This record gives sequence, structure tokens and C-alpha cells, in this order.
Amino acid sequence: MAEDCPQKVPAHVAIIMDGNGRWARARGLPRTMGHKKGVEAVREAVRTAGDLGISYLTLFAFSSENWRRPEAEVTDLMGLLKAFIRRDLADLHRENVRIRIIGEREHLRSDILPLLLEAEETTRNNTALTLVIAFNYGSRDEITRAMRKIAREVEAGRLQPQAITPELIDAHLDTAGMPDPDLIIRTSGEERLSNFLLWQGAYSELVFVPEFWPDFSRELFISTLERFATRERRFGGLAPITAAAGQ
Ligand code: IPE
Ligand code: IPE
Ligand code: MG
Repeated sequence: MAEDCPQKVPAHVAIIMDGNGRWARARGLPRTMGHKKGVEAVREAVRTAGDLGISYLTLFAFSSENWRRPEAEVTDLMGLLKAFIRRDLADLHRENVRIRIIGEREHLRSDILPLLLEAEETTRNNTALTLVIAFNYGSRDEITRAMRKIAREVEAGRLQPQAITPELIDAHLDTAGMPDPDLIIRTSGEERLSNFLLWQGAYSELVFVPEFWPDFSRELFISTLERFATRERRFGGLAPITAAAGQ
């Protein structure tokens, strides 16, 4: 573990990587340059998370609502994801990183889906950091798909309605088997969740930082974890549990 890291790190950190466009605009550059720089920040965040011993790092890469952007920008973002997987998969695999993808995948273009499946398949037995990429992801869509699966089981007579519990719903979400995020970070100063991990984030600590995503450095990641460590988590009870002490 690196010397500069906080004493106790959260098991699961999720990040809303926002502000690529504004980072570019502030420099008189096209938005696409912001997204390119954003990929570099992704690499640094993954490296830092691995060094600090974080178990799960979830990155919001493309939302189910991001299709509303101009076609050229969507194409650009798809291209960057493809390039990232093509270029970085071997390195990530070597570093024992396991990749998981969350989000709707059935309707993805045929040039994207096989790459995502390959990334998951290649790294499935890796045991270091789990990198969760939220792609074509929206919580409402995820919960809706989970409800459909559950309804089909009820319809087929395999499941009684009273057997529907929070745990059963958890098991039908894209995040099945993962711990809930302890910390959700959003960059760029926006203070909203934008349809990200609404179910899983019920008791997550939220930290908003003003820096744009391309400026999210190792130092900033660590200082954000230090802010998290000072939080008191109560989970509805009375006894404060400091975030640094874990759950
Ligand atoms: C985040 O940056 C990247 C994605 C949403 C894909 P934005 O593209 O949202 O940048 P801003 O918010 O317009 O600055
Ligand atoms: C959230 O950012 C989605 C991702 C970071 C992928 P947006 O930039 O799309 O969110 P809004 O539209 O400002 O809420
Ligand atoms: Mg944005």
C-alpha cells in the first residue's frame, strides 16, 4: 500500500466523472479533447485505486440519457471506450484487475458489445481491484429490467410475491454480488446523481469536488478519501460509525 494513502480506505468507491466538456471549453478546445484527457484521468484513478487497496471502483462512463447528445459526440465517446478497451485490456489483465460492466447491453451496437464481453471474460478470474464500468447505465433502467425479470419468475410460478425482498432485488440488479458503494464522488461541481446507483447508493457518502474530471489526480483522489474518512455513518441507527473505521 502506498505511504501517502489514508489509513482505512472504503471497499467500494463510485465516481461520476463529470466536466470533460467544460474542461475543454475553459481552454478553448473542442469537447472531444476533454473526453480524451478524461481517459487519462481514468487510467490514473484505476492505478490509484489499485495502489490504495480499494476493492471496487465503479466509473460512470456513459449514461442511458447520454444518447441525447449530438451524434458526433456519441460516436466520439463510443470510439474512446473501444480504444480504451483495446489498448488497456492487456495491461489491466496483467495488473490482475477484474472488469465488470453494468448497464443495458442487449441493444448495444455490434462493435461495442463483443469488446465489453471480451473484457469481462478475459479478466473474470482476476483478484485485485474490480473495475466496474457503468456504460449505457441508468438506475431507473436497471431497476426496471430487474423488475421485469422478477415479474417473469412470479408469472411462471417460480416465485411467491412475499419472497421479494431487498436482497432478492439486489440479486437481480446489474451490480449483483457487489457491495454497495461506500462513497460516491462527483467531479465538476454539479451536485446531483444523474440516475447513478440510486438503489445501491441508499447509504453512500456523497462527496462533490469542484475540479473537472480531467483534473482528477491521484492527490485529489486521496484528499477526497480523507474527507470521506471524517464522515459519521449511522445507517439509521444512533451510534455514529466513523467512515474510517469501516462498517
Ligand atoms: C463527462 O463530461 C463525460 C460524460 C458524461 C460522458 P461531460 O461531457 O458531461 O462534460 P460537461 O459536463 O459537459 O462539462
Ligand atoms: C452524468 O453526467 C453521466 C456521466 C458522467 C457518464 P452528465 O453530464 O450526463 O449529467 P447531467 O446531464 O449534467 O445531469
Ligand atoms: Mg456533464
